[in-house]
Amino acid sequence: MTVSPCVVAVDDERFGASAADVVSSRLPDLCPRLGVATGGTPTRLYTELARRSRAGEIDLSEATLVSLDEYVGLGAGDARSYAAYVRTVIADPFRVPRQNVVVPYGLAADPDGEAEAFDARITALGGVDVQILGIGGNGHLAFNEPGSPFDSQTRVVTLTDETRSDNARFFDGVVADVPRRAITQGLATIGGARSIVLLAMGSHKAVALRAALRGPVTPDVPASMLQEHDDVTVVADHAAARLLTDS
Ligand code: PGA
Repeated sequence: MTVSPCVVAVDDERFGASAADVVSSRLPDLCPRLGVATGGTPTRLYTELARRSRAGEIDLSEATLVSLDEYVGLGAGDARSYAAYVRTVIADPFRVPRQNVVVPYGLAADPDGEAEAFDARITALGGVDVQILGIGGNGHLAFNEPGSPFDSQTRVVTLTDETRSDNARFFDGVVADVPRRAITQGLATIGGARSIVLLAMGSHKAVALRAALRGPVTPDVPASMLQEHDDVTVVADHAAARLLTDS
């Protein structure tokens, strides 16, 4: 059965606060397990949650943070790794201890085994309470590119040229430096979260957002699988939401 996710369209300056309100409303009080996206879009959310933590308005210090993905070949000591992003942008400002940060190990000798072990860790945690997601301009979720099966688990994937060139901005603009493979949560892994909060900013996300929320449910648009989840909230600025009107 498909459902229509709730869409909250906000002014740019309200984006971080609105996203933080939605995430907070979905998190359990005790020991929440928060799935964290990396990338550019969620940074305002993390800044706002860090501000609320410092101000004593929320306490995330008992949270466990679960990352969506990691580049194969980058370790936590590399500032361009997602392990470093989660540590510096999320865990440290939220005062989450290092042992509560769960990120695939990019330097694993056996990346396939690491991917399998990662799903087992999520299961052992009891699953993710709230998963924060961005959306790719091609409708991808994490590194699940178009064509990824809806029943995919965490696995090693080869990145598309488009995604490597999109992410070159985090590698001093040098596409050749962007790793070719990543360990990514699969679409079934992501869909296992109890609540999902999808964030989208900018008119370059409008077509993908419409395809994801209003188009057919198809692996050609990985984010369209969100129509089959029963607790999805979309926080979008007006530019990203501009094609969602049902006229
Ligand atoms: P962005 O990435 O937040 O940096 O735009 C989102 C994505 O590609 O999943």
